Amino acid sequence: MNPLITADLAQPTSPIIVALDFSDANSTLEFTSQLDPLACRVKVGKELFTASGRSLVEKLAAQGFQVFLDLKFHDIPNTVAHACKVAAECGVWMVDLHASGGRRMMEAARDALAHFSHPPLLIAVTVLTSMEAEDLNELGIKASPAEQVLRLATLAHDCGLNGVVCSAQEATQLKIALGADFQLVTPGIRLNNNTDDQRRVMTPVDALAAGADYLVIGRPITRASAPLKVLQQINQDIQHSRAETEKL
Ligand code: C5P
Repeated sequence: MNPLITADLAQPTSPIIVALDFSDANSTLEFTSQLDPLACRVKVGKELFTASGRSLVEKLAAQGFQVFLDLKFHDIPNTVAHACKVAAECGVWMVDLHASGGRRMMEAARDALAHFSHPPLLIAVTVLTSMEAEDLNELGIKASPAEQVLRLATLAHDCGLNGVVCSAQEATQLKIALGADFQLVTPGIRLNNNTDDQRRVMTPVDALAAGADYLVIGRPITRASAPLKVLQQINQDIQHSRAETEKL
């Protein structure tokens, strides 16, 4: 086993995680070769991982990127624990599972990572940012998205996970309830009114002000005509907003 430990790489100061929702390794690597690993992290999700697997994760690490393996594990505790262990062996920086898999599943995943010297951050997905109250209702969940997110995040916190994926709209409430160290990873980030299939959305600067630690941004960057410029512009906006806040 020779993991490329992306946790050992230089830490980007940017909170942006670019969602690499591409269909194959070549177009992904061509895209990431234009990015600076100090200006963002990257996320490999289900489509890309199914197409290109572990070798792509290792190539991204070789390009210098910290990699979030976003496979949202949801299975029996033993299966999820082993999947998380293999993810750690690949040297990923962050890995996630569904909090709705329950306490025993989350604790098994946490325990599976305990002996690694550089374990990935273990993050639980609460309620997908594409879902709203109506969608939960149809699943028999009477709680509002915010209530359900708080319930699942509290459980993940209690199970010793490092943080959750949630909408930036729930970030303030979660920081107050679960503390500053509990990491909030927020997709559903939008620069304008085009929300695509996302429902609970926010702009990058507003999301950080609300308490988000990391911003997962896909299509607003990857589908832009000048992706690099968009990434640079968001990073600049964030720096500017941080400087303004420090002045206060
Ligand atoms: O293109 P867009 O910015 O909507 O991409 C968001 C990314 O974040 C996608 O890769 C999606 O799978 C992921 N994600 C999400 N909601 C979650 C967890 C992950 O949108 N709760």
